Amino acid sequence: EQINKGKYEHYMQKEIHEQPESLTTTMRGRLIRGGSCKAKSVLLGGLKDHLKTIRRSRRVVFIGCGTSYNAALAARPILEELSGVPVTMEIASDLVDRQGPIYREDTAVFVSQSGETADTLQALEYALENGALCVGITNTVGSIIARNTHCGVHINAGCEIGVASTKAYTSQIVVMAMVALAIGGDTISNQARREAIIDGLFDLPNKVREVLKLDQEMRDLAKLLIAEQSLLVFGRGYNYATALEGALKVKEVALMHSEGILAGEMKHGPLALVDENLPIVVIATRDGCFSKQQSVIQQLHARKGRLIVMCSKGDAASVCPGGSCRVIEVPQVEDCLQPVVNIVPLQLLAYHLTVLRGFNVDQPRNLAKSVTTQ
Ligand code: G6P
Repeated sequence: EQINKGKYEHYMQKEIHEQPESLTTTMRGRLIRGGSCKAKSVLLGGLKDHLKTIRRSRRVVFIGCGTSYNAALAARPILEELSGVPVTMEIASDLVDRQGPIYREDTAVFVSQSGETADTLQALEYALENGALCVGITNTVGSIIARNTHCGVHINAGCEIGVASTKAYTSQIVVMAMVALAIGGDTISNQARREAIIDGLFDLPNKVREVLKLDQEMRDLAKLLIAEQSLLVFGRGYNYATALEGALKVKEVALMHSEGILAGEMKHGPLALVDENLPIVVIATRDGCFSKQQSVIQQLHARKGRLIVMCSKGDAASVCPGGSCRVIEVPQVEDCLQPVVNIVPLQLLAYHLTVLRGFNVDQPRNLAKSVTTQ
């Protein structure tokens, strides 16, 4: 495996730009295109003997830390929709701190790029003691999580060197969307939806290639934001995770305070922060929450918020009447896959902000790629 920087200056930059290829590798051999007598479907060898148990479980509990937790959060809605099984979220350390309830009838899904994160490992031991079916989703073959879970899926994103996770995040979401397709029943009523998602997965590397063309635009935006103290990111639905992950990237590498906010909670606190100085990214790509996000934009606008709106291509006029905000237009994909596309401009923004602010992109201060101590 090639782990030099090639034509890039930093590993994070390389890993952002290689996402069309890493996503292709993640999906290779796992998606079936369908044909005259074969339905479009998904094949995940590491899960196939456990699908029945997972379908019958009382709930699925996603467990992870940092970016891996955010990836699971992005996949939660599609897993709920296709499987009908309730899905709950646990930050690994918090589950262990609370000794929260985990039952024999639960499926506990451990998401970890390294497969070695101490907090996630402790949560795994705890879930095993409680008798849950434990599934590992990791990028590292032979890692402790891969070895100690009952079954799982490798994300095959290739080696990730930059401390801030980028390509592993998008591959994790894609794997969990495939897990949702594998668990979800192949009924007539959801056939069109399943096929649309599978077609969307096939086309996703192309869409990511397209969104990477925003590189220069994101560098220009980073120049505008270089001296800011803080950046808010508002998202909801499928893109609540994008807001959290975009803010995490800015925080961890650009060393700028940034907060991902669930837009539905805006009125319950964050609105007090809005003024003409604080930059706010609002994610308002097309999905079932679009009109609600339009209303959020209006409310922020009415309070003179300094808005940067991410919208689907061609939607600039509908999200930003009068051209009063900065717009980032991204290609539209199937709603549940949109987080994969939407995170890319924010990864680029975090990258350029870091370089322009003169900080170490690949080794941010105080952070480690793999946190193996508690
Ligand atoms: C560290 C890294 C993060 C990562 C998190 C979880 O904090 O700096 O980038 O998201 O650990 O790591 P994992 O390997 O379990 O995904």
